[in-house]
Amino acid sequence: MGMLCLGRPSLLLLLFTSLFISFGFAEIRLADIRSDDRPIIPVDEFRFSHTGRLELNVSRVTLSNKDPNLDLSKAGFLLCTPDAWMYVLQQHVFGEVTCALDSDLVNVVYDFRSLEGKSSFDTVFRVNDAERYTLVFVNCLDQVNVSMTVRSKMYNLEGKENRSAVEIILPGVCFLSPLVYFILAGIWIYILYKIVLTVSRS
Ligand SMILES: *[C@@H]1O[C@H](CO)[C@@H](O)[C@H](O)[C@H]1NC(C)=O
Ligand SMILES: *[C@@H]1O[C@H](CO)[C@@H](O)[C@H](O)[C@H]1NC(C)=O
Repeated sequence: MGMLCLGRPSLLLLLFTSLFISFGFAEIRLADIRSDDRPIIPVDEFRFSHTGRLELNVSRVTLSNKDPNLDLSKAGFLLCTPDAWMYVLQQHVFGEVTCALDSDLVNVVYDFRSLEGKSSFDTVFRVNDAERYTLVFVNCLDQVNVSMTVRSKMYNLEGKENRSAVEIILPGVCFLSPLVYFILAGIWIYILYKIVLTVSRS
């Protein structure tokens, strides 16, 4: 059993990949969005701990509609768990919210009202719930295309609280089994040794 696990390179790879994810601590994503009319643009995903941080640096923001009376509260970035997102869609279907940014189930990171005429912004958002979150850009403006350069960095201040540590336990168990194998082998050699001793004494 133990040898079986050691002999599998794919499992080794899996272990190292998991290590990289859980001890790398950070996920950085650069996205160049050009004249995009999608109402929802997923940017990136990350499993936060209780000490999560999102750094968002957005530049070169332009909207295809330059109307100064545009309701910019209808465009912006939010963080949402996949579960909560299902309820947000439900709220939308039942007409409880007209824009995901208005839902009380999401964490609004930045809405475009705060731009106040600027074309770039930097912000930091704290996450205190150990959950997997998706960073999403929401555009509820009708027939307005958006262009921008997005840099997002998601990380946890304390990596040890990172829940993906749970994910490395599985291959870890497999890597423990050579140890168990050696202990069993040791016990077996000890028993043989005892038998040999008993036999030679008699
Ligand atoms: C908005 O994007 C759509 C789809 O990419 C495109 O067909 C349309 O021409 C764009 N509109 C403007 C005003 O840029
Ligand atoms: C991104 O924004 C954060 C928060 O304001 C700032 O600390 C950081 O230096 C910025 N990074 C870049 C590459 O501009």
